[in-house]
Amino acid sequence: MTVTDRRGLKLSNATPACAEALDAALDDALAFRGDPIARIDAVLAGHPDFVMGHVFRAGLLTQAMETRIYRTMVDSLEKAEALWDRANDRERAHIRAVRAWIEGDFHGAVQRWEAGLVDHPHDLLAMALIHLTDVLLGDVAGQRDCVARAFPLWDESIPGYEFVLGFYSFGLEENNAYSRAEEAGRQALALRPDHPYAIHAVAHVMEMQGRQLGGVHFMNQRRDVWAESHFRNHLWWHLSLFHLDLGRTDEVLSIYDNHLRGSGVAGERYEELDSAALLWRLNLVGVDVGRRWADLADKWEPSAADTLYAFNDVHAMMAFVGDNRTEAQGRLLTANERYLEHAGDANAAMSREIGLPFCRALQAFAAGDYRACVDRLLPVRYMTHRLGGSHAQRDIIAWTLLEAALRAGDGNLALALANERCQLKPSSPQNWRLVARAHVLRGDQERARRAWARAESPLAA
Ligand SMILES: [Fe+2]
Repeated sequence: MTVTDRRGLKLSNATPACAEALDAALDDALAFRGDPIARIDAVLAGHPDFVMGHVFRAGLLTQAMETRIYRTMVDSLEKAEALWDRANDRERAHIRAVRAWIEGDFHGAVQRWEAGLVDHPHDLLAMALIHLTDVLLGDVAGQRDCVARAFPLWDESIPGYEFVLGFYSFGLEENNAYSRAEEAGRQALALRPDHPYAIHAVAHVMEMQGRQLGGVHFMNQRRDVWAESHFRNHLWWHLSLFHLDLGRTDEVLSIYDNHLRGSGVAGERYEELDSAALLWRLNLVGVDVGRRWADLADKWEPSAADTLYAFNDVHAMMAFVGDNRTEAQGRLLTANERYLEHAGDANAAMSREIGLPFCRALQAFAAGDYRACVDRLLPVRYMTHRLGGSHAQRDIIAWTLLEAALRAGDGNLALALANERCQLKPSSPQNWRLVARAHVLRGDQERARRAWARAESPLAA
């Protein structure tokens, strides 16, 4: 008997119960709810030869970007590899992809998943893993095009179409196609309101377009959907960005204390990323965050020398400089320097080109050597996508550079950079504050006054 998933893809060594569990687990994973791994484990207990069960487990674990899950991921892959002779071509493409990933070849993993997706455009798991890995790697066009290549072959009659729309929405947004991105995101939400990734994509559109009040409203209106999901930390972070731009730092701190800081348990990596990114932004606008840095730095300490993912390292560094932990800063930098002496994996390039320069720039900023911070960031500012993450996340680099230029007293450079930000997002009060401060530095009080007025009322002429 041939067993297939809900989209008609053949599953080796599977029973209908296996297929049902896989469908439910993928649905849970993409809707950021439940425990997809537990669902798969339950079916694997009775069907240890279910190839896609192991493949799903290993594939999903690639996205954790944490050393503590590494052994579990390898175990799942090895179980899938042991079933190689009984696996079909599509399943083998997944196995090859995770093997490449485990060997540090993240780009190779994407290519292998992509080879499978070209032959099987309804392989939603492959599409999800390509899209999400492209986000981790900073492959901006890939985030959009991995969906585009299959998109015309999908429609509402195919289960999971809402997730395809969600991925497409985010991919379009990261490629500045904001109206199409919002349309796809809202279409996904019309099909399935319980879809945190589509909410996220629309929030990104609003963030990039400087629609702060609309963003707050949009997020609050849907809070009962996302605030219970596994994506909640990052979505709280997005809500806090809208408030931050409006200068509502009390709201930001309240979100941080009540939601982002969460359980207080170390190891919630995505929460720790968002927490560091938010505290550093508060630092840039001059808010004293008190003990929060120390609490967060405690959580990052155990992974200071991981060298697993440069994006993690720069956020760990924010916490270490935020709490003035020179020993941890040194440990992180030394570990990365040693790692780069011999490493040839995908992360090595990310670390060498952006991760380490930004870590050193953060150190210089915290030491008050703002000129050194500027010198480290100016040459890399247009390459920062190689660090991975989104435009909104990487904006922290450009913002740090500009703040360093201001604090270094370089009025001309600060004005140039502030003008650039303001042209991209003229409705941002924070951007106008930066412009105003640059004018003050240059002694142009009249322009400074006008910029302050814009900061108070972004719609004013
Ligand atoms: Fe985001």
